[in-house]
Amino acid sequence: MAHPLPQTLSIAPRGALTGTIAVPGDKSISHRALMFAALAVGTSRIAGLLEGEDVLATAAALRAMGATIERTGEGTWQVDGVGVGGLLQPTTALEMGNSGTSTRLLMGLVASHPITATFTGDASLSGRPMGRVIDPLAQMGADITASPGGKLPLMVRGLCPAVPISYTLPVASAQVKSAILLAGLNTPGITRVIEPVATRDHSERMLRGFGAELTIERTNEGRIIAIRGEAELKPQTITVPGDPSSAAFWLVAASIVPGSDIVVRNVGLNATRTGLIAALRLMGADITELDPRDVGGEPVADLRVRHTPLTAIDVPETLAPSMIDEYPVLFVAAAFAHGRTLARGAHELRVKESDRIAAMKAALEACGVAIEEFDDGLAITGTGGDPIPGGATVASLLDHRIAMSMTVAGLHAARPITIDDVAPVATSYPAFYTSLDALTGRA
Ligand code: S3P
Repeated sequence: MAHPLPQTLSIAPRGALTGTIAVPGDKSISHRALMFAALAVGTSRIAGLLEGEDVLATAAALRAMGATIERTGEGTWQVDGVGVGGLLQPTTALEMGNSGTSTRLLMGLVASHPITATFTGDASLSGRPMGRVIDPLAQMGADITASPGGKLPLMVRGLCPAVPISYTLPVASAQVKSAILLAGLNTPGITRVIEPVATRDHSERMLRGFGAELTIERTNEGRIIAIRGEAELKPQTITVPGDPSSAAFWLVAASIVPGSDIVVRNVGLNATRTGLIAALRLMGADITELDPRDVGGEPVADLRVRHTPLTAIDVPETLAPSMIDEYPVLFVAAAFAHGRTLARGAHELRVKESDRIAAMKAALEACGVAIEEFDDGLAITGTGGDPIPGGATVASLLDHRIAMSMTVAGLHAARPITIDDVAPVATSYPAFYTSLDALTGRA
């Protein structure tokens, strides 16, 4: 998938955000829904699928390995799976675009199938570490040849039957956990992942939903997740809940722009994903949950968010795994809080779609915000609610969340903020700017 041309955008304040919007389907759950459906025997139906570039990269790769995947309507998709063990040899490289989740999880799938697949990606993805999945998958018997530094492009030659392992995660990563569980699906015996720090548990929930034999034990070493291989997955009808990581931008935007009062509908509230809401509430944000319900086995609610002055906090490091994708926009919230917010313990931000610590420091500093950088986070001194100076051009560095976070910052800046390239927003939230228009009366 070629990256679209850069799109420069200038953002100036548009007044209060008001009204109601729904967020698109959860990215993590959308990837998994397609992958598990592609491994089931029979026809699965998915509603609410995120139709962003990352998820479309997963769909294309699964098609290249034999699954039949069709779009039947807006957000509704039908998948005819090949069965666990039934993936076919792809005839061209699997192009992963910007998507780390597609790459790492699909590497797991290929690792225990008798096929060989080459993974390629854009400049951002090609700079990201894959050693964290290569190590466990090689222990299971896959033969992986990576570019220097354990990077893309790389080739995975699967082993079938693979060898079950018991693996303690050295980094808190749901992608690594899921890659091993996916490899375990077609591996005889029991594959175990020990997770000292809990990360998003969508794979576990959904694999059980598809009929896999999966157990979770809580011990002193952490969560032990065990999956019995040579599983048979049964097709499902799935509704994907809205993405809390996409809702995050509106939660912060409404909190910082005076007069705002919005409702964000259909927000997934799985406890492994709600760290930002907890952090914003500690800062004094006014977020209320309306109509709590269950969607596709995940807790969901509509969130009402009203502008309120924010106070700086020391962000509890224990929240890091459940808000790992939300730090860029949390840094924006901190730029408008009263006092100095300290956010540390988030070293993983260095290896996301960009180095998000360096990227947000550069962008916010260019906009006149006082920032101190640490190896694992930032300290940000906020304006106490006044606009930040703005008036700079900032780099999104092929990172959707940097582009969207700096858009939010521009909504309360004294002078416009120009973002050099907002095209990456299409990887996770193609309707982001349409929703911004709707919330600011421009629809
Ligand atoms: C994801 C896990 C997280 C997250 C990413 C999506 C997933 O990555 O940052 O956006 O769907 O499993 P890590 O596993 O690298 O923490």
